[in-house]
Amino acid sequence: MVDASGTVASLVRDAAVRLTASGSGSPRLDAELLLAHVLGIDRMGVIAHPEAPVGPGAQAQFEADVARREAGEPVAYIRGFREFHGLAITTDARALIPRPETELLVDAAVAEVSMRLTASPRPSGAPALRVADVGTGSGAIAIAVLAALRTRRMAEHVMVVATDVSAAALDLARENAVGHGLADRMVFVEADLLPPVVDPPYAVVCANLPYVATAQMELLARDLSFEPRTALDGGPDGLDLVRRLLDLLPDALAPDGVAYLEIGADQGALVVAAVSHQLPGWGCAVQADLAGLPRLARVDRGPAGGTEAARP
Ligand SMILES: C[S@@+](CC[C@H](N)C(=O)[O-])C[C@H]1O[C@@H](n2cnc3c(N)ncnc32)[C@H](O)[C@@H]1O
Repeated sequence: MVDASGTVASLVRDAAVRLTASGSGSPRLDAELLLAHVLGIDRMGVIAHPEAPVGPGAQAQFEADVARREAGEPVAYIRGFREFHGLAITTDARALIPRPETELLVDAAVAEVSMRLTASPRPSGAPALRVADVGTGSGAIAIAVLAALRTRRMAEHVMVVATDVSAAALDLARENAVGHGLADRMVFVEADLLPPVVDPPYAVVCANLPYVATAQMELLARDLSFEPRTALDGGPDGLDLVRRLLDLLPDALAPDGVAYLEIGADQGALVVAAVSHQLPGWGCAVQADLAGLPRLARVDRGPAGGTEAARP
């Protein structure tokens, strides 16, 4: 119901009550973000001006957006974007909403690529350093990595191959790449993990593949049911796709190449065991996020170059 006397504070308060009842885990934040979106301001503007009146048109739109959120639709799909690594990434039902924990992978990839380009500067005209973003979804990882490299004047030396099994997700990734002015540094490939011919191989492979165990899928929050199942379901223990990607790394990675894989917080030991089993002699270091949870696996050929004979 549209309240003719609605102020920012009263609309946020009433919406937060409704969103609490509908099971949102962050009702006030959701209400503030949705109202800010309708008003065309940022959330700080909503917080700073509680007594500001809200006109009937904006109230009606806010009402419609709150109703969508009550039905469980994620705020990022209603607003149409999500902030990721300081960028606005367009989001809709074609792909997973990028998550803050994935910024750890982006930071690692940016540091890795920067270190390589600094150690071996490329003369102009030299082939670009090749990076893969496997399961690119919205393109968030590839775009955030390239955007960070652009601020260091390094993006021109890098080409990212962004793959996905979902043609719809690749369309969204392309739109995001164009929106951020980075499409000329990316190639989009519809593929199961990686395209078969990799020449030259990749210096860095990034992958945030589905890693939710199938049995967990049904227990997940209602919001996740709005996101593509192919973006989440990782098989019985969640690592089916990660294991398949590990099998491809000997051919896909350059001799000194490295892969960064996002994993679930309970999968650190599993992924170390998978690397040791599938890639004898290779290294796998698991890095924790700011909450201390293991979230990122760094896989490389190890000091002995990944030869089984060199294992202790
Ligand atoms: C967890 S989402 C990550 C999306 C994006 N990289 C991000 O971090 O926000 C996983 C992505 O992998 C894709 N995917 C699933 N199976 C795949 C496969 N066999 N080969 C390539 N991509 C796959 C899904 O379509 C989805 O876009």
